[in-house]
Amino acid sequence: MSTTRSSEADALKFAYWVPNVSGGLVISKIEQRTGWDIDYNRRLAQAAEKNGFDYALSQIRFTAGYGAEYQHESVSFTHALLAATERLKVIAAVLPGPWNPVLLAKQIATIDHLTQGRIAVNIVSGWFRGEFAAIGEPWLDHDERYRRSEEFIRAIKGVWTEDNFTFRGDFYRFRDYTLRPKPLQQPHPEIFQGGSSRAARDMAARVSDWYFTNGNTPEGVKVQIDDLRAKAAQEGRSVKIGVNAFIIARDTEAEAQQVLAEIIAKADPEAVNAFGHEVKNAGKASPEGEGNWARSSFDDLVQYNDGFRTQLIGTPQQIAERILALKDVGVDLVLAGFLHFIEEVEYFGAKVLPLVRQLEEQRRLKAA
Ligand SMILES: Cc1cc2nc3c(=O)[nH]c(=O)nc-3n(C[C@H](O)[C@H](O)[C@H](O)COP(=O)(O)O)c2cc1C
Repeated sequence: MSTTRSSEADALKFAYWVPNVSGGLVISKIEQRTGWDIDYNRRLAQAAEKNGFDYALSQIRFTAGYGAEYQHESVSFTHALLAATERLKVIAAVLPGPWNPVLLAKQIATIDHLTQGRIAVNIVSGWFRGEFAAIGEPWLDHDERYRRSEEFIRAIKGVWTEDNFTFRGDFYRFRDYTLRPKPLQQPHPEIFQGGSSRAARDMAARVSDWYFTNGNTPEGVKVQIDDLRAKAAQEGRSVKIGVNAFIIARDTEAEAQQVLAEIIAKADPEAVNAFGHEVKNAGKASPEGEGNWARSSFDDLVQYNDGFRTQLIGTPQQIAERILALKDVGVDLVLAGFLHFIEEVEYFGAKVLPLVRQLEEQRRLKAA
């Protein structure tokens, strides 16, 4: 059992991005010591749980979009990682449209039993129009995608928690359906969502357990959290917040900044620009023009979920303090990406996480 894992209920949680697609987490020709194959990923998952990580987030991708030439399917990959670990929770990413809610609910309920209740789901609403065209899926407008995702979440929750479930939506219908067995986790496996537009926040307030947003500063995340938590309170609900960060922790700040500069200098401009073109179907396409990638620069897009903007780049002490600043504005989980995954997960667990836990303890003592 890791000594860096805090037993306090309010301790920040840590997740890492499962590299189940090829090409690493940055769209750059810099050397990335990582792998998208199952052997590498099993070792990474085992290293992550030993080093204090609570969750792993898989990705769903059907086609290459930004150099991610190979993409393993997320639910099956998630099962394999759960089978190789003991405590880690693994989040399977799914897209309403290609996925049908009853199939997902049944798949996840079974995997929940096979893995002692450690699976969760991330419902992604989609931004990649070319991918939908390639697989013959009809493309919906931005806010319609969220209306469908919300029905999808209501449907899987209903199937997981109710007997004789009946539901009449615009996208999905159920009549007197009873799933057996229900999932092991009660009331149901955790439901995460990706997306940061107003439609995404409204959906999270009504139906999700967790809201994942792209990389951002504490001030930028706070605006979203305040809006989301106010809306959730009106619904009598609370929603937890996860923020993405590409972490570059090195013994000196100069070293860390040098790595960032090299990632950007070696960016693949064609792939970054192609990605920048595709993501215009996301946040910017929402009626209010907010959300993921609405204001991303070329440099931001080199890490495809704006992970540099969270600024977890520097020494372990600097990073730990910035992580606490995120916690201060209401963040519950940091979702981490790394350049050289296994090595850096180990460095993070050894050097950064103990400082985070110390700072959390100091704040607890101060508040007591
Ligand atoms: C942490 C996180 C993980 C995501 N994972 C995926 C994914 O695996 N596949 C995918 O197609 N989209 C993924 N997305 C994209 C979102 O589901 C969503 O389509 C996108 O962020 C645009 O949302 P917005 O317009 O509401 O900001 C992810 C987003 C976030 C923040």
